[in-house]
Amino acid sequence: MTTPTADDTPPADREYARELDAADPLADLRERFVVPEGERYMDGNSLGLCSADAAAALDRVVDEWKELAIRGWTDADPDWFHMGERLGDRMAPLVGARAESVVVGNSTTVNIHTLVGSMLDAHGAGTVLVNDLDFPTDHYAIAAQLRQRGLDPDEHLVAVESGDGRTVTTEEIATALEAHDVDIVFMPTVLYRSGQLLDVPAITDLAHEHDALAGFDAAHSVGVVPHEFDEWGVDFAVWCTYKYLNGGPGALAGLYVNERHFDIDPALAGWWGHDKATQFEMRHEFTPADDAGRFQIGTVPVLSAAPLDGALDVTHAAGIEALREKSVALTEYLVALADERLADLGYSVGTPRNPDRRGGHVALEHPEAYRISEALKDRGIVVDYRPPNVVRVAPSPYYVGFETVWTVVEDLRDIAENEVFTEFDRQSGGVT
Ligand SMILES: Cc1ncc(COP(=O)(O)O)c(C=O)c1O
Repeated sequence: MTTPTADDTPPADREYARELDAADPLADLRERFVVPEGERYMDGNSLGLCSADAAAALDRVVDEWKELAIRGWTDADPDWFHMGERLGDRMAPLVGARAESVVVGNSTTVNIHTLVGSMLDAHGAGTVLVNDLDFPTDHYAIAAQLRQRGLDPDEHLVAVESGDGRTVTTEEIATALEAHDVDIVFMPTVLYRSGQLLDVPAITDLAHEHDALAGFDAAHSVGVVPHEFDEWGVDFAVWCTYKYLNGGPGALAGLYVNERHFDIDPALAGWWGHDKATQFEMRHEFTPADDAGRFQIGTVPVLSAAPLDGALDVTHAAGIEALREKSVALTEYLVALADERLADLGYSVGTPRNPDRRGGHVALEHPEAYRISEALKDRGIVVDYRPPNVVRVAPSPYYVGFETVWTVVEDLRDIAENEVFTEFDRQSGGVT
């Protein structure tokens, strides 16, 4: 397909957007999704949309529950007992991993707890390097794990300070590694606010050069950006499946553990991480699975995992490389239109301009970002506001087309040019 780049200014007319849609090999994918009536949905990095495939997978499991009840654990097709492992196997190619390294279980926050805790124990508890632009739950969980080991987070949770308040450079991480004795580097693959895609292989190498482990929160990249965790030597990773993977609200999370850590003890052990072959012998000694499966904790929440089976059919049918190609084309187009149509109205692009350093969303900065987001929502354009000044626009390649991006930019222009945002109240605090 034609990939516009932010350097060659694309024509800013609707006709050109239609041409891009006509040339889009993934255009038909959106037929599989339910877009809420009258909405333009630019929020797929918060909660991906429901596909017919995901809904059918959930219905199938509900039917199995009705027909088989307890026998569903063994007699459902596929059985429920191995659901975490099986969905992990299906997800492994998306992160460039052998099947045994990936499992679906718990939530992302719980997976940070168990993996960081386990790695701290295995590596000799010490210091974790994060950054000051992280999603908050990462810091909460790591600080709690440090405290449980008698380590003061004020001393042992070190945050790289972003120089520009938007991005974290590999150089800044290198400087922090020189200054502190770090045991685990834990970074996002994509920053949730600015959308910067960090250089995961370079950070992994740096961590290893400093005798530290490299772990990643890949919530904003899995399903829209390809990864090669095995090849890059990443130690561990966690991610959500309800964002670009469209697994449904609160869907189970994914985790990756490099095979060289298959023998470490889970910090949050539970019977679902037991060796499956002997789990029902009900012995009190814990014999963990000999792969990433050991990091599961309790019974797999079957109904929260079921839609992911259908959702993964969609991702695999499209192909992660094609999804990335379309995603880059969409964000390049959005950045170019923002420069052309919005820059004179106080908007600026807070996301890296190099597409290789960009995830699936674009941060549009504006002093009135909050009220602009409210005005967009009033027009059925679903975006996220992220304090203090970001309108986060995520054109998911699964169901957003170029013409929709074009219309959203025209609405952004109208709302600022005609001060439509003044019709909305300023932010009053609390939940946004
Ligand atoms: C980067 C990142 N990590 C973690 C989470 C949340 O994880 P959980 O599913 O445990 O709530 C989010 C949610 O948006 C996120 O953006």
